[in-house]
Amino acid sequence: MKYLRLIKYPGAKTSLLHDIFRVVKAAQPSVIVDVFGGSGLVSLNTAGIQVVYNDIDPILVNMFRMIQQHPEQIMRKLKSLLERATIPGGIGHDKKFPGTGMAREAKALRKRGGKGNPGSRDDIPSDPLELALRTLYRFNTSFGGLGNTYATRKEKASASYLRKTVFDLPEMSRRIRSWKIENMDFRDLIKKYDSADSFFYLDPPYPGKQWYNVNFLDVDFRDLATLIHGLKANYLLNVDWDVPLFLEIFGKPSFVKVYENANGRSETATKHYRRKSFYTDVIPGGKNQH
Ligand SMILES: C[S@@+](CC[C@H](N)C(=O)[O-])C[C@H]1O[C@@H](n2cnc3c(N)ncnc32)[C@H](O)[C@@H]1O
Repeated sequence: MKYLRLIKYPGAKTSLLHDIFRVVKAAQPSVIVDVFGGSGLVSLNTAGIQVVYNDIDPILVNMFRMIQQHPEQIMRKLKSLLERATIPGGIGHDKKFPGTGMAREAKALRKRGGKGNPGSRDDIPSDPLELALRTLYRFNTSFGGLGNTYATRKEKASASYLRKTVFDLPEMSRRIRSWKIENMDFRDLIKKYDSADSFFYLDPPYPGKQWYNVNFLDVDFRDLATLIHGLKANYLLNVDWDVPLFLEIFGKPSFVKVYENANGRSETATKHYRRKSFYTDVIPGGKNQH
């Protein structure tokens, strides 16, 4: 099945989407709240339901807000970046400087916006549109982490990733146009949107990993568990199966699924398979449990 994706993001849930939407379909909510929205993968692939996208990282939130407010400008600028890039075999390939295009564009963008990680607080261009463009570019052409590894030898792959993003951007921006976009801590967001016709999709950061600009401590997982117990809304939480802390905090999962690792660079790099625990108050394929 083909899904819309805007950026490469650590911990994006592509292989879980089928199971996530099975539960959402069973719950039949009017509103889906993507509490830890990240790359927006779940929000982008939700159709026919009001979406609330949230993330605590203002860099991601700015990117979605700019696409919402200035889709044409973003499209034009991203297209021109792709065209100016001298990718071997790609549009605008400059035979005199083979293989330098994407790296050169990245360098230019970096110069305009400062250096370092796209999410780091000391690295924020004052123009939100420029920042959004840079975030999009970096998260499309990097190889993992927070978009801070630049394309060099793998420029061709980067270019085709970016080209697909540009191709799908009109459809994605059409969807993003109707989102409500929030930039809140999950505790406040859940209190704000908890109602019987809402559905919370919960994909928190991984314990002990510093993948994001804001990561989770044990106390955050405990707060999440407390909030879940008092919800009026339906919810689905997914976490890694092999973390004892989760059994202690959330108890026995509603169901567990095994997924093949798409490549050696994914979440559990040394393993071919990974197990995910799902917690939900919705019975897949049946009525919800409220
Ligand atoms: C596992 S990622 C989500 C990935 C997302 N589901 C996707 O498919 O791209 C977790 C996200 O939670 C965000 N986050 C961390 N702490 C948060 C908090 N206290 N409240 C809301 N979001 C938070 C991080 O910025 C990160 O983007």
